[in-house]
Amino acid sequence: MRVLIASLLATTLIASLESLAAPVPQQQLLALDPYPNKPRITFRPDGTFKITVFSDLHYGENPWDDWGPIQDINSARLMRTVLSSENPDFVVLNGDLITGENTFRENSTSLIDEIVAPLNEAKIPFSSTHGNHDNQANISHIEEIYREQRVAPLSYTRTAPSGIGGQNGPGTYWIPVYTRASDRTPSLILWFFDSRGGFFEPTGSEPVPDWVDDTVAGWIRQQTAFMNAAWGPAENMSRGALAFVHIPPHVIQNIQPTLNSTRNPGLNADELGAGSTQATSDPSSAGKDQAFWDALNRHVKNLHAVISGHDHGNEWCVREPTKNVIFCFDKHSGYGGYSGTGWGHGVRNIVFTSPDPKEGLDTWIRLEDGETRARVKLDASYQ
Ligand SMILES: *[C@@H]1O[C@H](CO)[C@@H](O)[C@H](O)[C@H]1NC(C)=O
Ligand SMILES: *[C@@H]1O[C@H](CO)[C@@H](O)[C@H](O)[C@H]1NC(C)=O
Ligand SMILES: *[C@@H]1O[C@H](CO)[C@@H](O)[C@H](O)[C@H]1NC(C)=O
Ligand SMILES: *[C@@H]1O[C@H](CO)[C@@H](O)[C@H](O)[C@H]1NC(C)=O
Repeated sequence: MRVLIASLLATTLIASLESLAAPVPQQQLLALDPYPNKPRITFRPDGTFKITVFSDLHYGENPWDDWGPIQDINSARLMRTVLSSENPDFVVLNGDLITGENTFRENSTSLIDEIVAPLNEAKIPFSSTHGNHDNQANISHIEEIYREQRVAPLSYTRTAPSGIGGQNGPGTYWIPVYTRASDRTPSLILWFFDSRGGFFEPTGSEPVPDWVDDTVAGWIRQQTAFMNAAWGPAENMSRGALAFVHIPPHVIQNIQPTLNSTRNPGLNADELGAGSTQATSDPSSAGKDQAFWDALNRHVKNLHAVISGHDHGNEWCVREPTKNVIFCFDKHSGYGGYSGTGWGHGVRNIVFTSPDPKEGLDTWIRLEDGETRARVKLDASYQ
């Protein structure tokens, strides 16, 4: 199977080689089929594709009292309720799976088993990003990723090649989504970026930079060049994209004062300040997520939206004017983690109505009890 795909890719490569400075090595072509042993993620026969995003689950709070474990029981109930009624094609866990500050060295990643249990039971493919609470004295992103890969057969979470992502930021990768499982090329790429944050092991006293590392910018340029060479340019092939990163890009902070509750509906209860967006925990880090943000918007074509969690009191979507790209917050899903009166817990649903990237996406917030709100269509006219 790998050999067949490689030779198909090599054939099409000849046609597009002129556009590249150097030929793409065979090994890189194989890397364009990153899941040879897993089912392909595909659109439904009717051309739709539904993603449900769980964010900020914050498992493992206060294991020493009754309150903490009850929050995880509530979060697991929410996951099972939502999965059975929404029946998504793919699930994203968009960071802060675990409140790492409260974990113990000897069993911290066993919380991953609890988190993925509802997904394993429902046999729904999924993948994760990781957040600032997932890097703490007794836990790290890489430990959570390895555990998830081991205990969840339908986990599509991967790690970036070595040297990409910076220390404590290994969770950067992409997943191809095909219109039909037999297609040669994907029609949608889901991108996942590791915005790091939190603290280094083992003492947990050194802060980890809270932005997507510079090395990811070059990786985005390289990966999109490989995709274009093997599959044809995204624009010509109608290949769409959607990106997930736990901490919102810094530029989102500047937009909050311009929100209009008609165009940008949803809870807007978290005022963005220090620590709310990338590269803001420490004033000296201002601008450090720019290389990532520039590369994402320059090289990833047909990017429908960028989706983040982290700020539990926000649910809105908005168009970011400098890059002309749509940004959306998730919905705080976990019963752990900070909350406010009336915020509730739920998910963001995202529905592609067609594999054609010129068609917009429908997205809305769904609360555990089934209430829906903040429904918008993300298309060229969305503001
Ligand atoms: C990390 O785990 C060890 C061993 O269980 C525990 O003694 C320690 O308090 C934990 N550290 C933190 C910061 O929670
Ligand atoms: C981890 O171990 C601690 C201390 O022994 C215990 O209180 C806690 O419930 C355990 N957590 C998990 C997730 O197994
Ligand atoms: C992509 O489309 C553009 C505009 O239609 C065209 O000029 C270009 O030759 C196409 N490239 C390939 C590789 O098909
Ligand atoms: C908010 O957006 C709506 C819909 O686009 C528009 O009609 C309204 O004028 C806007 N309000 C403000 C204060 O800009």
